[in-house]
Amino acid sequence: LVSSAGPITAAVGADGTVELRPGAGLARRLVPLWLRENCPCPECTAPGGQRIVDVTAFPADLRPADVRLVADALEIGWPDGHTSTYPMPGLLAGPEPDRLPRPEPWDAGTALGDPFDALDLAADPAHLAACLEAVHSSGVALVRGAEPAPGALEGIVGLFGHVRETNYGRLFDVRTVIGAENLAYTGLGLPPHTDNPYRDPTPGIQLLHCIRADEGGGGETTLVDGLAAAERLRRADRPAYDLLAATEIGFRYRGSGVDLRARFPVLRLGADGEVAEVRWNTRSCEPFDFGPRLARAYYGAYAAFGRLLADPLLARRLRLRPGDVLVMDNLRVLHGRTRIESPGERHLQGCYADRDGPRSRLRTLLEADDEGEGPAP
Ligand SMILES: [Fe+2]
Ligand SMILES: [Zn+2]
Repeated sequence: LVSSAGPITAAVGADGTVELRPGAGLARRLVPLWLRENCPCPECTAPGGQRIVDVTAFPADLRPADVRLVADALEIGWPDGHTSTYPMPGLLAGPEPDRLPRPEPWDAGTALGDPFDALDLAADPAHLAACLEAVHSSGVALVRGAEPAPGALEGIVGLFGHVRETNYGRLFDVRTVIGAENLAYTGLGLPPHTDNPYRDPTPGIQLLHCIRADEGGGGETTLVDGLAAAERLRRADRPAYDLLAATEIGFRYRGSGVDLRARFPVLRLGADGEVAEVRWNTRSCEPFDFGPRLARAYYGAYAAFGRLLADPLLARRLRLRPGDVLVMDNLRVLHGRTRIESPGERHLQGCYADRDGPRSRLRTLLEADDEGEGPAP
């Protein structure tokens, strides 16, 4: 024991590790390099929080020369004469958790929240926060009341991010024109899929804006939660789930002036073992390049997941009306549409964005709400 202040005590181990013990609760053990790297003084950390020190410049066996607890801080003197002062009890609290809501899987039976209103999104930060929470937790939000005119999507995406421009342009048009080079531009039904797995990085957000609806029947939008389907596969057929997570496949799109190729697994797991990204697009897979053994197993797993994704119990169906905008997580929620019966009458405009935009915007909105700034006028 080297020091104590109030109920908190600090002890230094033989290897220089500092153990902080609160009066009640869990102790926290911090190694010297971590403490040196995270010195909050103005020499080591810029005002915005960006780090100035480079921990790789310090010796691996760095040890504090001196450790003491003062009234509301831990103070460490380092061998080179630098002094670090860490405010307490913040240091005991550990890493700041992310404030984003947990993803909530859904299926056809899950109640849909109310649609969001395009004008309110622009005027009311609380409404925008609720919309972005829906995008994060369920992977989809329906916005109504956007102007049913080409280009209006720019104003929606600008509320939380930036257009991810591609070779299809900033915005792309989905019309019922038969004979176009991409199947999405024809009137055929499209089974649920995620877009553009042949891009690296794959766009994480897709917006679809209905400018003109086909009243003649067909052309309904279908949505499937890839996360819910993956969870069902994991429970029903663990080897198939593992195979889809462990095996990269190729995706490719060749069109006028582009040859886009990328390799990803159908289910990409995060370090926590949970599904982080789902890609499903049977039209843009390259021929599988496996030997016969793996090919047989892979086709089995691939088909098992495909059957789940096609299960009507997982699909939500909705008819987009002019002025509707769907905001979707393109690395989670699959979209499709039923066959269009009257070509030429339907016009959607779409665009891509990245996942980090809406997440960042949501964090800043939650933080502003905490600080009691309240809704802007
Ligand atoms: Fe699509
Ligand atoms: Zn410092």
